[in-house]
Amino acid sequence: MSSSATGRHANKTSPLIPAAKAKLLEGKKGLIVGIANDQSIAWGCARAFRAFGAELAVTYLNDKAKKHVAPLADALEAPIFMPLDVNAPGQMEAVFERIAKEWGRLDFVVHSIAFSPKEALHGRVVDVQRDGFLTTMDVSCWTFMRMAHLAEPLMKKGGTLFAMSYYGSQRVVKNYNIMGVAKAALEAAVRYMAAELGPKGIRVHAISPGPLATRAASGIPEFDALLDKARGKAPVRSLVSIDDVGVATAFLAHDAARLMTGETLYVDGGYHIMD
Ligand SMILES: NC(=O)c1ccc[n+]([C@@H]2O[C@H](COP(=O)([O-])OP(=O)(O)OC[C@H]3O[C@@H](n4cnc5c(N)ncnc54)[C@H](O)[C@@H]3O)[C@@H](O)[C@H]2O)c1
Repeated sequence: MSSSATGRHANKTSPLIPAAKAKLLEGKKGLIVGIANDQSIAWGCARAFRAFGAELAVTYLNDKAKKHVAPLADALEAPIFMPLDVNAPGQMEAVFERIAKEWGRLDFVVHSIAFSPKEALHGRVVDVQRDGFLTTMDVSCWTFMRMAHLAEPLMKKGGTLFAMSYYGSQRVVKNYNIMGVAKAALEAAVRYMAAELGPKGIRVHAISPGPLATRAASGIPEFDALLDKARGKAPVRSLVSIDDVGVATAFLAHDAARLMTGETLYVDGGYHIMD
């Protein structure tokens, strides 16, 4: 039994993907970054990976976030539970050092974080100030590149790196603004990193979910209209859940997906194929 985040394994009532019977990822160890609460996409990913048998390291933003994330880390039986604010010097290195010390290797990383200051996100791309642009790109894109850099030496037998993107990288989505620019850079970074790391058996993917009502999404004006549009236009006529995103992400971490890399995988009910 792992050491736990709150000293007890809470949330026993919440089943971990009841349909997942086969422990397809048994023996794999991964880092999940971006759980804020039980609506987070990172939580959907963590639940799926755990349900398939993977062992997880989980991070939380800061002390304020810790109380929300700790019960979730407990439910995941995460043996590593650490703070990670990517703006705090040394914290990212500390997470990878602990993983190196405790596990000596890593099979996957899920990067599910993004941030843009309100004044940058809510204005026109044309008007974005340098500071807001740099912060947006730093947290939402560069940190994925840095995590790959730190993960590479731990992925001696290969591995998979995931980042969360959005359709606003490809088309102009109302109110997505500068984050669309950051996601376009993120998807390009995924392709370059996939080319660079492929010979080492390390695969790199962007996952592009349809809109989900999370805390991050609450910073986007008129988000409800985006949800309504997604529901109406997607061929399957329904919104995606964080579990849908989690299971698709977990599939790509499986050895059976070893010849897939550099992909932007849409989990959006088919929305992106429609005009
Ligand atoms: N919600 C959507 O509709 C949607 C759709 C497609 C892609 N995404 C992407 O999914 C990812 C996860 O977002 P979410 O929707 O689950 O929202 P969320 O609010 O649950 O997660 C965002 C996470 O980013 C973390 N974060 C922000 N600044 C950070 C920092 N400085 N250091 C470390 N962590 C930091 C937050 O702590 C939080 O855990 C983001 O990349 C987002 O752009 C979201």
